[in-house]
Amino acid sequence: MDNRSVLLIGGGGREHALAWKLAQSPLLDSLYCAPGNAGIAETAECVDLDVSDHAAVAAFCADKQIGLVVIGPEAPLVAGLGDDLEAQGIPVFGPSKAASALEGSKGFTKDLCTEYGIPTAAYGRFTDAASAKTYLAEQKLPIVIKADGLAAGKGVVIAESRDDAEAAIDACFEGAFGDAGAEAVVEEFLSGEEASFFALVDGDTALPLATAQDHKRVHDGDQGPNTGGMGAYSPAPIMTEALCARTMERIILPTVAAMKARGTPFKGVLYAGLMIENGAPKLIEYNVRFGDPEAQPLMMRLKSDLLPALLATAQGQLAGVTLEWESDAALCVVMAAKGYPGATTRAPRSKASSGPAPLRAPRSFMRAPRATGHRLLATGGRVLGVTALGDDIAQAQARAYEAVDAVDWPGGFCRSDIGWRAVKRGV
Ligand code: AMP
Ligand code: GLY
Repeated sequence: MDNRSVLLIGGGGREHALAWKLAQSPLLDSLYCAPGNAGIAETAECVDLDVSDHAAVAAFCADKQIGLVVIGPEAPLVAGLGDDLEAQGIPVFGPSKAASALEGSKGFTKDLCTEYGIPTAAYGRFTDAASAKTYLAEQKLPIVIKADGLAAGKGVVIAESRDDAEAAIDACFEGAFGDAGAEAVVEEFLSGEEASFFALVDGDTALPLATAQDHKRVHDGDQGPNTGGMGAYSPAPIMTEALCARTMERIILPTVAAMKARGTPFKGVLYAGLMIENGAPKLIEYNVRFGDPEAQPLMMRLKSDLLPALLATAQGQLAGVTLEWESDAALCVVMAAKGYPGATTRAPRSKASSGPAPLRAPRSFMRAPRATGHRLLATGGRVLGVTALGDDIAQAQARAYEAVDAVDWPGGFCRSDIGWRAVKRGV
């Protein structure tokens, strides 16, 4: 890397974890983040760039001699920010607009799975409510209705009754998810246990990362509506070596080959949401970026320098790259404003304490935009992820909750059982 400055795009807990890890790289000169947040500001210079203005981002990169742009969230990827920066010769970690269709269109991914024999739920794709309902009439319950496009994790309904399924279809085509709902996927309900599987992909070569498991439901015991993720841990004991190998062979590698064959190679981090049943993985969906909160425990466990790995991914040079991970487990508990994932009242007066901590102590990765001293100004939604390492998941869990207890935030809540499956398994 000739230019040793990095621009990170995003402002969530995921980007805070990435910034924290990138900042430890001896190869790094300067780290900028747009827009960043109060936590990221501790390790990077937050810049006020409109990331939807691709020319402005490119001009910033030229001005600061940025040697790598790391795009955290899906929206700028799907909008083609990566393409426009690469057209200016700026290396980008993150897929092109065309390859981002793996997350940007659920129907695109389902069709790719069919074409290449990748295991996934049976499905139909529809552009109007009437034909979706005709298909629905012949399917078993429960059934899953999904808006095709990006809907910030809110476009999926698991319907237990035909009435609920029809209502979800109507809502989708009546604009509940805006343009994302112009098309819908109706798919078979998969049972089993979910896991998050990540691989760096440089267009050709795929390098699996450590495994992780998220907690999508808002309440303890995996009850209540889906969220963006209420907590995560790594490693995920369900992902045995054999299962990881099978996931690579049946799901990740065929996808990488398919995208290359189509002339739209995938480059970045490919995140497969898996359902595991009887030791076999099925693809629930792809994301084209790191998971949030999964990135938080992953970054805590990563021993190797992140920067060269991201750069090798961006430059098609991943072959031969290896990554080392702590044998310790890491567990992240997300704190959110009360009411999440429904509309949360903006709570500018909520406060949560934070402070600098040694590298291996529990970390708070945050998305709060502003802070004064050790007080964060929370603005609703998910606000803070408290992540701790431990000899095993039970110890990481105990340490994370101890750190959560030290956060003084009456307007916030968290799940009290993050990691329960792993702890129950006794790992
Ligand atoms: P997605 O945005 O596609 O990952 O869906 C969000 C969540 O909905 C997943 O993490 C699962 O918990 C659930 N889900 C999605 N599709 C299915 C399915 N076919 N069967 C069971 N659960 C599903
Ligand atoms: N943790 C789920 C996601 O990042 O989509």
